Amino acid sequence: MTTPVSVVILAAGMGTRMRSKTPKVLHRAGGLTLVEHVVRLARTVAEPENIVVVVGHGADDVRAVLAPYGVRTAEQTEQLGTGHAVRCARSAAPATGHLAILYGDAPLLTAATLAALVGDRPETATVLTAILDDPTGYGRILRDPEGHVAGIVEHKAATNAQREIREINSGIYCFRAEKLWAHIDDIGTNNPAGEFYLTDIVELLRAAGHLTQARILADPDELLGINTRVELAKVDAIFRARKVTELMLSGVTMEKPETITVDVDVTVEADTILESGVRLLGQTQIGGDCRIGAGSILANATVASNVLVHPYSVIEDSQIGAGSRVGPFARLRMHNVVGENAHIGNFVELKKTHLGNGAKANHLAYLGDAVIGDRTNVGAGTITCNYDGVHKHQTTIGEGVFVGSNSTLVAPVTLEASSYIAAGSVITEQVPGGALGIGRGRQINKPGWVAKKKG
Ligand code: UD1
Ligand code: MG
Repeated sequence: MTTPVSVVILAAGMGTRMRSKTPKVLHRAGGLTLVEHVVRLARTVAEPENIVVVVGHGADDVRAVLAPYGVRTAEQTEQLGTGHAVRCARSAAPATGHLAILYGDAPLLTAATLAALVGDRPETATVLTAILDDPTGYGRILRDPEGHVAGIVEHKAATNAQREIREINSGIYCFRAEKLWAHIDDIGTNNPAGEFYLTDIVELLRAAGHLTQARILADPDELLGINTRVELAKVDAIFRARKVTELMLSGVTMEKPETITVDVDVTVEADTILESGVRLLGQTQIGGDCRIGAGSILANATVASNVLVHPYSVIEDSQIGAGSRVGPFARLRMHNVVGENAHIGNFVELKKTHLGNGAKANHLAYLGDAVIGDRTNVGAGTITCNYDGVHKHQTTIGEGVFVGSNSTLVAPVTLEASSYIAAGSVITEQVPGGALGIGRGRQINKPGWVAKKKG
């Protein structure tokens, strides 16, 4: 019978070599914090209430990031070693079943590897190992003449002969929980660092007659841990490469994929083309048959199908309806809803604006706190004056309105359906449906004025 799985994630370390105010596990790769990657991985084998994250440095900040995941945390106030960290998790973790140990700073482990590790449901324990060309710094796996795992020796404590061993300890294990907890207090600090080494558990279990198995990992890259920002960049690049590869295989065309940044949660449907230098961030969702132009940045954007985003547009927290066109150099700042077949042209900024189906703002406009009806045309240079220095006000424009170029709409104001605004107007009052609104001085021509002035 399979036992339930719990996971303890060690994430209390300071990360001195990051040289950062931010705790190491809150640095980001692939668009997520390191610890979130590991928690999501843990979620593939365990229920949230059976996941315990051991926090220490920046504990409150780490807890805040983890709050939405519903996992437990345990605090390790002093970092006395990996064995001590696991001990700190004991009261929060299940006493029975199988328990995997993961590291908060090693986010590349795949769900397939973890599934295989816990799938063994070992009698005592399985340690994940790897064969490295350069094993320097890692704990080494000691094997007895029969090939059974006899113990793990840390690099610092290893003899020269032991340092020749290329099979290393990943630090990732699956334990039979009852046996781990029965022996965890036996770990001492008799080593050069004076720390409680979790690795000692292997020998302690063996002395009690329980053998640990080893599972050798095929791709040691999955173990890459992060100690410096150089390693952070490497891990980030691996996440980016995984994501763009996955998207291309699912039917997305990319020009120069190595220049494209896509966060892990982003979705893009088939036959969409991403030009070079595109960044798709956060929870962005893009439909099929779109083209996202070079250098465009979309963060938490929802884009329907057949949308054309011309180069260098920035779209944040906004929705774009099917068949619409945006940019180049458009900025959709926050909470905009753009309908279907709408056009937003160059140097147009939208903020909290609802632009109707087939509506157009093709050049040089600021539309903030506005509702703009279907098929309305907003001329070049139109500005909604939504801010009086203290409060923001709403502009409401009905369907089929024509707003002449360089109009200034002083909110709060309403332009009713099918009204027409003369170019260069300053509109401060409601314009009734079907009316022409003119808000500017009348032109006067003075015949012969130039000659008189010169004479
Ligand atoms: C550990 C293993 C080593 C293995 C290596 C793989 C031990 C004694 N050694 O060494 O055999 O080859 O990982 O990367 O376990 N942590 C805490 N609290 C602590 C100490 C550590 O939460 O008191 C966390 C760290 O934040 C980190 C993880 O545990 O996420 C591993 O600690 P680290 O100090 O990096 O162990 P290594 O020396 O790399
Ligand atoms: Mg380490």
